[in-house]
Amino acid sequence: MTEQKPAVDMEKLVSLCRRRGFIYPSSEIYGGLSSCWDYGPLGVELKRNIKQAWWRAVVQERDDMAGLDASILMHPQVWAASGHLEGFADPMVECKNCHLRWKGDDLASDSCPSCGGELTEPRMFNLMFKTFMGPVEEDADVVYLRPETAQGMFVNFQNVVNTTRKRLPFGIAQIGKVFRNEITVGNFIFRSREFEQMEIEFFVKPGTDEDWFNYWTEERLNWYLKLGIRRENLRFRPHTEEELAHYARKCSDIDYLFPMGWAELEGVANRGDFDLVQHAKYSGKSLDYFDDETKEHFVPYIIEPSAGVDRTALAVLCDAYHEEPDKDEIRVLLRLHPALAPFKVAVLPLSRREQLVAVAKEVSADLRQHWMISYDDAQSIGRRYRRQDEIGTPFCVTVDFQSLEDNQVTIRERDSMNQIRVPISELKNTLQAKLEGQDVFVLPPGGQIWKVENKGE
Ligand code: GAP
Repeated sequence: MTEQKPAVDMEKLVSLCRRRGFIYPSSEIYGGLSSCWDYGPLGVELKRNIKQAWWRAVVQERDDMAGLDASILMHPQVWAASGHLEGFADPMVECKNCHLRWKGDDLASDSCPSCGGELTEPRMFNLMFKTFMGPVEEDADVVYLRPETAQGMFVNFQNVVNTTRKRLPFGIAQIGKVFRNEITVGNFIFRSREFEQMEIEFFVKPGTDEDWFNYWTEERLNWYLKLGIRRENLRFRPHTEEELAHYARKCSDIDYLFPMGWAELEGVANRGDFDLVQHAKYSGKSLDYFDDETKEHFVPYIIEPSAGVDRTALAVLCDAYHEEPDKDEIRVLLRLHPALAPFKVAVLPLSRREQLVAVAKEVSADLRQHWMISYDDAQSIGRRYRRQDEIGTPFCVTVDFQSLEDNQVTIRERDSMNQIRVPISELKNTLQAKLEGQDVFVLPPGGQIWKVENKGE
């Protein structure tokens, strides 16, 4: 059996992301800040679209989920109850020669991977960022930047039950920034110190937890498939007993075949009653649930699908990256799902002639009411198509001289490069249908097949 290869190498992807405005190093003019990244004009759209697709699938389209946006700073006791103050730490070693620090359990040998120097004994290093509340830097005022969004949902469990009247089984979903002072970072946006999570805490009756765990692992895998990620680049990886986190009864990662190899994209955990029991103990408030049907009080179990926005962005970009022969050159395209593409449509006047620009501006102003649109009139039409291919724009609309006479424009599809010609009056509805997945050759009234582009093969 041949070994499966990642879809793209990291260098190519990082270069495309930088060049086209998806992702820049943070504070670049000052030389950057290790493992912090800024999402540029296209990256911010991609990320917003990922979050929107997730929210739509797990909150909007379901009756058993409630959204939440909890504060990043939480009462310090939260982290005592959750086990983060004591247990959210990695063993760290330092090179006595070059003073670089390494995560102890990542090292294959006893010497420094950089200079070969002698290493110190491992000591535990807590991954939470500490800061102070108010103007006095005293221990009593220490607060932490949250290292996961999950705790905000546990401590609001009773609030959500009381205010929404949701009955078990139901979930709370949240998207937000989290911070971890990781010892070793790298692989672009895969592991950074500031990132975003999309987490669900799904509360269920004990005894039904196994079924819900299986349900959510399948459901979450299907979400990635629906966004166009190829099945062969995804796998489940159940955790062994030894690697289970202190709170977990069971856990399975959804791994993606990233350029550096298989690695975790999302984790699904059965957390049992650990979190609600701990918070009830530390806060002194009951976090029991009363079942109106059976008249029982019990502490719900929690199933937690926890995904990273940045890792999803990386997986989506890797999976979409594609190169194909184009006469004497290579056409680079991002085959992004239309729901994720930063721009849905690019409007391109064939030339900068005044009459063409006027129509193209009018067309783009109209389409902007519905989607993110790119307007581009610089360089040859071929170059402009390629620019849009490279950033994953699913459709280009071209306004040419004939448009001035017949009020029709050309729609060109990114992946097949096929073209149809449609009346401007039908443009919005046609694009809508095609963005929702209708075949590019289904024509509106008055439309016609225009051109099947020669791919130069
Ligand atoms: N509440 C459970 C929890 O936080 P986790 O496995 O530590 O679980 C969940 O994190 C997800 O967050 C991961 O699957 C990954 O997508 C993302 N993630 C974790 N650490 C990250 C980092 N340093 N940089 C980017 N994403 C990260």
